Amino acid sequence: MGPFSAPDLLNIECVTGFDAPVSGDMPGEVRHYFHLLDELGDGPQPLTHELRVLLGRARIGSCNSGYRPQEGIRCILCAIHSKERLTIPHSLRTYGLAHAIAQCLQLDAEALRSLRAGALLHDIGKLWIPNTVLLKPDGLTAFDWDQVKRHPDIGGRLLREFGLSSEAIVVTRSHHERFDGTGYPDGLRGSDIPLLARLVAIADCFDAMTNYRPYRKAFTPEEASAHILSCAGTVFDPQLVEVFASRPIQDWLSDAAGVIGQ
Ligand SMILES: [Fe+2]
Repeated sequence: MGPFSAPDLLNIECVTGFDAPVSGDMPGEVRHYFHLLDELGDGPQPLTHELRVLLGRARIGSCNSGYRPQEGIRCILCAIHSKERLTIPHSLRTYGLAHAIAQCLQLDAEALRSLRAGALLHDIGKLWIPNTVLLKPDGLTAFDWDQVKRHPDIGGRLLREFGLSSEAIVVTRSHHERFDGTGYPDGLRGSDIPLLARLVAIADCFDAMTNYRPYRKAFTPEEASAHILSCAGTVFDPQLVEVFASRPIQDWLSDAAGVIGQ
């Protein structure tokens, strides 16, 4: 698992070496993949021509013998990146920080592989959220939030269709669950939330807060870190927050940058 950068993530060579944990035989799952795309339709706003072309390539790829799920995933990542430019770099940084923390948890190699796939793809479902919502400069309406809250479910289903391991899928599906049970999409509570998803939730929040969003300024690492500590036991797993709080934030960021080669 060598380091790579955000643009690399869109190159086939990188994704071939992506080493995502894969289970199942893709050709047998093509029908389900088509079904999923048909069921999802265009989402709340019509897909652009460019997105249609990219998704078409994913479909064609899924019909070829010797098809690799990574090829379809690459097409989806390209589609997201052509739609808006925040998600891929955010996912990369989220993975870097989550992996840095994971190295203190003595997870085995298989769990780290699942973490890598799940964290890098955790927002893949945002493909179906319109840019008018994703890039909205003002506060989101209740209707907007309903659309945003679909992305973990859509992302998890996509990864299932691409044949990723269940451990990677749950990272994507459950990264917006909250420790107190008030998150989404399943309202899981405490240790019912998979460990890797609880971990990515911390890294996801930290990275989102420390980077610009159309509706607010970026917070400093110290401010974001303090917010995470204040949410121990409500939003986040208190034991993981304890690990997060055990080192200066700049040390974590230095390790995270090393993970993703930046
Ligand atoms: Fe998300």
